[in-house]
Order: sequence, then structure tokens, then C-alpha cells
Amino acid sequence: MGTPMAHLLHIDSSARTSDSLTRRLSAQYVAAWQARNPQGTVAYRDLAVETPVPVSADWITGVFAPPEHHTEEAKAAVAAADVLIREVEAADTLVLGVPVYNFNVPAVFKAWIDQVFMAGRTFAYSADGPHGLLTGKKAVVLRSSGSDLEHPAFAPMDFHAPYIRGALGFVGITDVEIISVNGLNPEQVTEALTKGTDAITESLAA
Ligand SMILES: Cc1cc2nc3c(=O)[nH]c(=O)nc-3n(C[C@H](O)[C@H](O)[C@H](O)COP(=O)(O)O)c2cc1C
Repeated sequence: MGTPMAHLLHIDSSARTSDSLTRRLSAQYVAAWQARNPQGTVAYRDLAVETPVPVSADWITGVFAPPEHHTEEAKAAVAAADVLIREVEAADTLVLGVPVYNFNVPAVFKAWIDQVFMAGRTFAYSADGPHGLLTGKKAVVLRSSGSDLEHPAFAPMDFHAPYIRGALGFVGITDVEIISVNGLNPEQVTEALTKGTDAITESLAA
């Protein structure tokens, strides 16, 4: 059984609201996690519905300029990012549904990263270099692509998995499991869902 006070943050980022493999698998992961963690709590954020705004000049002022330059707009931009950061801080498990769009993450997921990655808040620099401040968490990424990105024709273009691992590692989330499925036609989709279900069962049994 899981940890009694566990808290999970579930994030989706597919533009599709129906037929989305990542939404289906992330929901399946969360349901299986809840069965193992009956006292655990879950927060949910749908980045396709409530899309974080792109980094703005106000955000940059609020994060990097000295306090005397912090306008009301700059404070509001940082406060909005802080809501997203607190959601991550509160969680010990992150379940992220992240499709592959043009060999990388969807723009809405990148927008989330751009809000959450805040110098002095989620990472900091010291004499030895950068340190992630969001430590002690596990992230499970449910990713789906149309093509098999392990195929030699596509593998060099797979910026999605290395980007997610690198980015999350930068803020201190180094325990990252990526469950990958792929498929476009109905037969491939059925196979993808079976593969995803098996991987979820294996992940939670570990
Ligand atoms: C805008 C867009 C870009 C895509 N780019 C790629 C890609 O670069 N490589 C790939 O294999 N599949 C690509 N696909 C296919 C999706 O990754 C695939 O359909 C995936 O299952 C989408 O996630 P979802 O099922 O959760 O919506 C793309 C799909 C869309 C809509």
C-alpha cells in the first residue's frame, strides 16, 4: 500500500478532450494510484482548458528586477505563477499527460514550465552551479506520439523525453518515469492502450 498522507498533482495537456491517449492513461494512472493510496489526495489541472499565459515583461520584472521596480502588474504576474508553483510544491507525485507535438511538448505544457521555473523559487544558483528546489518528488509522464519515436527514422528528433527529463531534473525532480505509447489508427490505439495499462500496473507495483 502507498503512503498515508500522499498528495498527487495530475496535469493534462492534450488539446483533445475526447480520444486523447494521454488523458485516458493519466486518468487511469491516477485511479490506480488512488486505489493504492485511499487516504491520498489529488489536485487536477488541465493546461488545455486553463492555459498558463506566456512569460510576459511584467513576469520578468517581477522575478528579476529589484523590489522597487515591482509594479502592480509585475506582482500579479508573479502571484499567478506562484499558484502553479505551490501546486507542485504540495505534491509528492506528479502525473503528467504530455502528448508529443512536433517532436516536443505541447506549447501549453511549455507555458506551464515557463511559469513554474522561477529563479530563487524553484531553482537557485550557488558557487557549485544550479540547484533544483523541488526535491523529494516523483514524476510519471504519460506520453503519446503518432509514430514510434524509438524507430531510427524518428529517434534523433525525439526532443520530448530528453527535454522533460532535463527540465524536471533542473528544478530537482530527478525521479522521472516516462511511459510512452504511440499509435494513430484504431488498431494501434488499442495496442497502445494495452501497453500503457501494463506499464501503469508495473509502475505502481514497483
Ligand atoms: C499538433 C500536433 C503535432 C504532432 N506532432 C507529432 C510529432 O511530432 N511526432 C509524432 O509522432 N506524433 C505527432 N503528433 C501525433 C500525436 O502525438 C498523437 O496523436 C498523440 O496521441 C496525441 O496525444 P493525445 O492522444 O493525448 O491527444 C502530433 C499531433 C498534433 C495534434
